[in-house]
Amino acid sequence: MSTNFLYKSYPVLQETVPLVELGNWPTPLERLPEISSRPLLLVKRDDLSHPLYGGNKVRKLELILADVKRKGFREIVTAGGLGSHHVLAVAALGRELGLRTTGLFFCQPVNEHVRNNLLLEMEFGTEMHFVRDYPGMVLRYLRIYLARRFNPRRKTYLLLPGGSNALSTLGYIGAVLEMRLQLREQGLPDPAAIFVAAGTGGTAAGLLAGIALAGMDTLLHAVRVVHPSLLGRRKIVGLARRSLRLLARRGVNIGDAASRLDERLRLEEGYLGEGYGFATDTAQEAIRRFQEMAGITLEGCYTGKAAAACLDYCAVREGSSRPVVFVHTASSTHREIKLSAAERELPPDFRWCFTGSPCRRSCSLKGWNRPFCEIASRDNWRCL
Ligand SMILES: Cc1ncc(COP(=O)(O)O)c(C=O)c1O
Repeated sequence: MSTNFLYKSYPVLQETVPLVELGNWPTPLERLPEISSRPLLLVKRDDLSHPLYGGNKVRKLELILADVKRKGFREIVTAGGLGSHHVLAVAALGRELGLRTTGLFFCQPVNEHVRNNLLLEMEFGTEMHFVRDYPGMVLRYLRIYLARRFNPRRKTYLLLPGGSNALSTLGYIGAVLEMRLQLREQGLPDPAAIFVAAGTGGTAAGLLAGIALAGMDTLLHAVRVVHPSLLGRRKIVGLARRSLRLLARRGVNIGDAASRLDERLRLEEGYLGEGYGFATDTAQEAIRRFQEMAGITLEGCYTGKAAAACLDYCAVREGSSRPVVFVHTASSTHREIKLSAAERELPPDFRWCFTGSPCRRSCSLKGWNRPFCEIASRDNWRCL
């Protein structure tokens, strides 16, 4: 019997949407009255979704990796920032299914969390390439694809950064169905608001589509953690709509859900700070409160910023009787790697993250990641 709530809720999908069962479902829905009791704050513990590497990617990858296997691919190439959770999850979960991962990494501010993720990439066997900028990333994707195209043993699946598409977005529709049942079991009404970090927007889109499909009177607060040129309302709503249409094509009655998406979405734009991956004071404070009051670990790039928005909301709605759910999307199950000989094994383009010597590629990121370059040069950041 499947534990995935998409299959449980819509058994027809077992025939029409391939899925590999990887995660530990359902993930707990825990009350955090010590942080906020009215409104009651709950946390959806997707950080515990997989014993090797948890977080939001697991729900997406159950669908993506099934597609990869079904189409006979043996390798995956994908991309993300230096500390990408996405590339890490693809490498960890793909390896369980016998797939190899190539990761293309672009610059982001380097901290302990990012360093640990780079070492984990090594542990999971990722082939790592540093890319200077967006065009460089596209070219590298193409080069790898063309180089392996005629080699049947290296047939490579191209997966965009974040792995957000109509198919993977179904994963978070399942999460809403799962969460709704848990709320009922705990005797709680539908939440007034759900908070989640939004990067490429797939997680938010799935939650939004799930809320509309379940007919819930809930607002989704998608907390943008990337430059506005990379994510806006249209992208999230469009992805949610395409995902619902996919469901409809695969035999699910979606009613009028696709027409109720826009009204359910709140895009939170005030928590990014100076750019993707940059620490903010409000996120640091949220991280501290979750850790000290509930023993829950967040990080600064995604979940800390989403939690800051969520705490601000709870403070303003003090006394309100409807619950609020925070979706914890960063893994808490992976190993913390002690800095050791492992870093010497890293490809040369990445060693500057550990040694303090300059990045040899002289990074030239522009536009969407410009704040990084500006601050980097202002503060004599070592990668420049
Ligand atoms: C910890 C964490 N939370 C949230 C997100 C955002 O997910 P999405 O790209 O689907 O918006 C990511 C994406 O990498 C992530 O790593």
